[in-house]
Amino acid sequence: MAIHPPEKRIWWNEPLEKSEITWITIAFIWGLVMFFTMVFWHFTGEQNLSNEAYRIHPETFAERTEAMVDQYTVREEGESGLPVVRPPPGSDVYMLARLWEWWPILELEEGKDYRLHLSSMDWQHGFSLQPENINIQVHPGYELVLTLTPEGVGEYGVVCNEYCGIGHHQMVGKIHVVAAE
Ligand code: CUA
Repeated sequence: MAIHPPEKRIWWNEPLEKSEITWITIAFIWGLVMFFTMVFWHFTGEQNLSNEAYRIHPETFAERTEAMVDQYTVREEGESGLPVVRPPPGSDVYMLARLWEWWPILELEEGKDYRLHLSSMDWQHGFSLQPENINIQVHPGYELVLTLTPEGVGEYGVVCNEYCGIGHHQMVGKIHVVAAE
C-alpha cells in the first residue's frame, strides 16, 4: 500500500511490470488519438473558426471602425440611436467592444463574404453570435479577423459572455442579415 514505505528503497530501478507498460502504452496511444482528433475536428467539425489575430492599437481599431460607420451608415436604431451600417459585400467590416456595448450594428447580405474584424477598446469581452454556435474571446490590443458568410435572413444577437463589470448583462449587439440585392 502506498501509505507504507516501499519494500525496496530503490524502487525506480526496478524493471517495469507488464501491467505498467500496458497502461503507459494505452495512455500514450490515447494521447495521440486526442491530439490528432483536434486537428481532424478543426476541419470536419465546423465548429472551430479559422480566425487570424493581429496586434492593433485600440485607437487604430476605433479609427477604422468609425471610418466604416461614417461611410456606410444607413439608419439609426433603438433609444440610444445606434448606427446601422451596411458596408458592401466582400469588404472589411468592424465591430468594436467596449463597456458595455458592441458597436455598431451591422447589416449584411445573405450568402456574401465579409471580413469581420473584432477588437476591444478597454477590457476582455465576448463575441457570442446567437443563435449560431460561434464564441470568441475579444481582447484589447488584438484584432481577430474571420471570414463570415451569413446564412439565413434575420436578426442575430451578439452576446458578451465574458464577465466585464456592472453592465455586462446589458452588453448585447446585433447583426441584421438581409436578402442579397
Ligand atoms: Cu462585455 Cu461582458
